[in-house]
Amino acid sequence: MQNLRKQIMALSLAAAVGGAWAQGAAPAAPDLAAMPDVKPGNAAMIELGKYFFFDNRISGDWGVSCATCHDPKKGWGDGQALSTGYPSMEYFRNAPTVLNAKYRGRFLWDGRLDGTDAGTLARDMITETHTMNMDSRLMQERLKQVPEYRELWAKWRKDDINGMRVYGVIGEFIRSLETANAPFDKFKKGDAAALTAEQKEGYAVFRGKAGCVACHNGPIGSDGKLHKTGVPEHPDVLKNPLRTITMLRHYATSGMPNYMNARSDVGHYAISKDKRDLGKFNTAQLRDLKHTAPYMHNGVFATLEEVIDFYDKGGGVGSVLKPLNLSAAEKKALREFLLTLSGDPVIVKDPGQPDLQVWTTYGKN
Ligand code: HEC
Ligand code: HEC
Repeated sequence: MQNLRKQIMALSLAAAVGGAWAQGAAPAAPDLAAMPDVKPGNAAMIELGKYFFFDNRISGDWGVSCATCHDPKKGWGDGQALSTGYPSMEYFRNAPTVLNAKYRGRFLWDGRLDGTDAGTLARDMITETHTMNMDSRLMQERLKQVPEYRELWAKWRKDDINGMRVYGVIGEFIRSLETANAPFDKFKKGDAAALTAEQKEGYAVFRGKAGCVACHNGPIGSDGKLHKTGVPEHPDVLKNPLRTITMLRHYATSGMPNYMNARSDVGHYAISKDKRDLGKFNTAQLRDLKHTAPYMHNGVFATLEEVIDFYDKGGGVGSVLKPLNLSAAEKKALREFLLTLSGDPVIVKDPGQPDLQVWTTYGKN
């Protein structure tokens, strides 16, 4: 009550002071930005991280590497609506691209990890039953028995290969992968001819009538926040027992109350246990959509046309969005504009897997 009264007083005060004051205090309208020019990361870590990213021996049964689900040839995702997950499991969400990890405010579809910590994300991918099902100490011992890895490590540090640092190394590698040469970046940096008239029209729709920019802003087109847009469930999650099992196990591990009865993807609620977060998901980035179909947390939309139709109708059940009434020309322009945020495919060649060899000279490299 006390707080409410204070709020009302503050509001009427702002109103009394008037429009000029309110305008002066208003933050700049959000917009998309060009990819920042940044210093490259630690070269020795990135080189080592590249090897680890493609090495399936960092998964429990050697069945998968990071690249199995984040394949450079498939926009660093797996091209499927729903991820296959670790062998014997099937996952209940889409495997997103790892491009531009450096600019994510939060990681994962339900936003359960802080975007500044790519090392922790790598750790979770490796140790989580659903993805690589690996024990940290086992991983450390396996990597130590690869002479090439010890040599590469020595270029970076004097100590032995250490599990915790391996996560940081992989994190540094994914932080080095980013959209390159997108027409939108050239446009933002002053080349007016980098976008066609239709693409510019699409940008105006994006910022104006369609209001996409409210959530999709900054260099990668994500505010790093959670929103409820009401994306429909993917039918296979509840038809396929293996996917249902994975979903319920994720809820159980997160300590979600009454999780056994859940039959939908509750999004951030499983993490926060706050009912207001039911069905809220992390704003997806809009970079490299050209290479990352299908779309949304469950890949339920195969094309950008479907995504735009979804927004045009005001999103799905319980959405915070309003219908847009876009004309066919506006929809097409919007789609053409979205594609200007994509760059050249970022391809890193699989460096191959150097052999294991028993390390006899303990402590000496
Ligand atoms: C078996 C498939 C699989 C493997 C293997 C895998 N991932 Fe993932 N990855 C996923 C799925 C599925 C998600 C989304 C999970 C979610 O949001 O619930 C994801 C999410 C991510 C994200 C978050 C991207 C974002 O913008 O939110 C990053 C980064 C990532 N993985 C990196 C890695 C790295 C590094 C490795 C190897 C250490 C790895 N992944 C191994 C399937 C996999
Ligand atoms: C209220 C915030 C909000 C607004 C406004 C909004 N989005 Fe989104 N967008 C999201 C969220 C949250 C997701 C992830 C939803 C999910 O997966 O369930 C998303 C996902 C997407 C994706 C999927 C990307 C991928 O890689 O899977 C595209 C494309 C997209 N939005 C485009 C748009 C366009 C175009 C508009 C304007 C017509 C728009 N969005 C308006 C919040 C918003």
